[in-house]
Formats: sequence, C-alpha cells, structure tokens
Amino acid sequence: MNVFDAIRSKLDIREFGSTSVDNDVKRLTLEAARLSSSGLNSQHWRFILVDTREGLEKLAEISTTGKWISGASFAVIVLTDPKYPYHDIDAGRAIAYMQLAAWEKGVGSGIYTGFNEEKMRQEYKIPANMHISAVVGFGYPRKKIIGKKSRLPLTEIAYHMRYGNKLDL
Ligand SMILES: Cc1cc2nc3c(=O)[nH]c(=O)nc-3n(C[C@H](O)[C@H](O)[C@H](O)COP(=O)(O)O)c2cc1C
Repeated sequence: MNVFDAIRSKLDIREFGSTSVDNDVKRLTLEAARLSSSGLNSQHWRFILVDTREGLEKLAEISTTGKWISGASFAVIVLTDPKYPYHDIDAGRAIAYMQLAAWEKGVGSGIYTGFNEEKMRQEYKIPANMHISAVVGFGYPRKKIIGKKSRLPLTEIAYHMRYGNKLDL
C-alpha cells in the first residue's frame, strides 16, 4: 500500500475483531509517532500504551465519546506539553502517522477526545503539566471496510492564490 492509498482508504474504525495485534505492530505504531516531526523538533509528546483487556475497559469507563475503545486490541494515550503553542499540531501529526502506519499493516484505528480528565490523570499518573490530547484505539476491523469517505470536494476547500479564488488543476 503506498502512502496515498493508505490515506485514501483509511476510515476511522470503532468496531474491532477479537484477533489481537502483535507486539511488532504495536512497536511499529509507536515508532511512527516517535519519527513524526514536531515544532523545533521539541519532541514533547509522550505516549502511553494500554494493551490489556482490563486496561481497555478502564479507558472505556473513563471515556465520554469513545466507549468503543473497550473492543480495541490496544490503545495509545497521546500527551503533549502545552507550553509549546503548536503542541496540538504535533499531536495531530503523531496520531496521523500512527494511524497510517498501522493501517498499512491492516490494523484499523479510531480516535476520541472525550474523557473524564481527572480520572485519566489519576489512573495513568499523568503529570499536571501534560495535556491529554487524545486516545487512539487500534485493532483489526471487525468487518471488511467498504466505507466511502464523506468529504467536501477539493474545489470547495482549496483556493488558488487568494481565499475564495477558484482552483483549476
Ligand atoms: C480531532 C478529532 C477528534 C475526534 N474525536 C472523536 C471522538 O471523541 N469520538 C469518536 O468516536 N470519534 C472522534 N473522532 C473521529 C471523527 O469522527 C472521524 O475521524 C470523522 O468522522 C471522519 O471519519 P472517517 O475518516 O472514517 O470518514 C475525532 C477525530 C478527530 C480528527
């Protein structure tokens, strides 16, 4: 799968099969995050791997918008240091790289951002200075993916030279 095919075919997955993902793919996924770029190469992100059934169920319990995480094979909690004004961009890059690297291995993923922050900090011993950016859940998709992306056409979101100028490529 080339990079563009991965981008084109990747959908957010919230239903996972029971086959667990092996450690090599978990490591590769985290390596993709490690290799992502960050502003000033500050590498302030930190990642917590959660890969036990009990741990994933705990994540689901604490979550408000990602209860589906209980069915994942593993999850990565993404933390950033908000003292860097671009910390959210850095998180987005690391998350996208992880999701694409996993997808290339047939492992689907989904992201959620709703959780009880206090409980997350308590459970995972997250320092007060670190921002909890998102949780990403990974696993083999339960169903064959035939979904089509629902996206705006390029002409609606990209312009030529000036905001609003028609793009004609
Ligand atoms: C910043 C961000 C926050 C998101 N938060 C949640 C969330 O809390 N819960 C959830 O189930 N999905 C969440 N999503 C997933 C989006 O709903 C999903 O990426 C979008 O619907 C496009 O899905 P598709 O790529 O499968 O078409 C989030 C995605 C992004 C990029």
